[in-house]
Amino acid sequence: MTILLRPSGLKDLMEGKDVVFEIGFGNGDFLLYLRRQYPEALLVGAEVANKYFLIAHRKLEREGIRNFALYRGDGRTLLYFFAPDNSIDAIYINFPDPWEKPSKESKRLVSVDSIKVYYSRLKRKGHLFITIDSDLLKDYLRRTLNNLNVPFTESLVSPFGDFLTKYGRKWLSLNKPISYFIIEKQDDSFFDLSGSCESFMPNFIFYVREEVDCELERIGKIIPLEHKEGDFFYKIDKIYRSLDGEVLFRVIHSEPFLNQKYYIVFRIFEGKGYMEIDDKNGLIISRSVIKTFRDLALRIFRECGKEMIFKNFGEV
Ligand SMILES: C[S@@+](CC[C@H](N)C(=O)[O-])C[C@H]1O[C@@H](n2cnc3c(N)ncnc32)[C@H](O)[C@@H]1O
Repeated sequence: MTILLRPSGLKDLMEGKDVVFEIGFGNGDFLLYLRRQYPEALLVGAEVANKYFLIAHRKLEREGIRNFALYRGDGRTLLYFFAPDNSIDAIYINFPDPWEKPSKESKRLVSVDSIKVYYSRLKRKGHLFITIDSDLLKDYLRRTLNNLNVPFTESLVSPFGDFLTKYGRKWLSLNKPISYFIIEKQDDSFFDLSGSCESFMPNFIFYVREEVDCELERIGKIIPLEHKEGDFFYKIDKIYRSLDGEVLFRVIHSEPFLNQKYYIVFRIFEGKGYMEIDDKNGLIISRSVIKTFRDLALRIFRECGKEMIFKNFGEV
């Protein structure tokens, strides 16, 4: 079993295999069911909630399940940034949270853009299975699929025999009607919706001006630094000084299918300023992350730089 700490490793794992995804696996029971249905395929499960991720991980280890990859995070991020179009045999989503308020639409696992991503990543004749209890979400999904011209079937009879997930048991005991949506991809078409990522970490080194006092207070004047461009937004809103004199800038970053918080580090040593991203497992270096780094790097350079020595984030 692999835990996908670095999601960029997904593509290599998938190479040459049948691949089956489950998004929002909760306690992991359905992954065990999928293992029985697809004994040879690579199973990839994504779950945002730490607690459930750990419960499922322990369960799968106990059962000695192999040929698995688990990701703690938004399953759509994994598909949007790291899975090629036409590469996945089946995607399963059981009882997605409804996020009923229209303002939360983008959080729905069946949002318009999410459906476009799932559909694009499926192989021809691949299947998307979505099980829904919420009436609002059922309506929303029907409209979305019709608007996208994606044919589907909807049934009140489970395609999973008498297997029920934890939420399946819950809704059944309350007599809530459950709809099973099945979408079969007819051809190799795809919606043009992919995130682009860099495989390098941005770095910046420069000589600092002798006369400049690069003290925290002075540097602190450049924040808050924020930027909004369509669906992309960042805010650098706090700075901290570590015990060994490094300055950490906190970044809150949001773009389609990617919300993350990280720190950009700045330190001065022997007349040179060094900037990099505080590396964290799972941090995704999208093009917009590079832009954020560049914006901050150039602001600091303007404040206390003399001459650039090295940068790997493109033209200034
Ligand atoms: C209502 S529960 C259903 C759990 C399980 N599928 C079942 O049927 O018992 C929804 C699950 O989806 C997870 N989830 C919500 N959004 C997610 C996302 N974007 N990526 C991965 N998991 C997500 C939640 O943490 C939660 O465990």
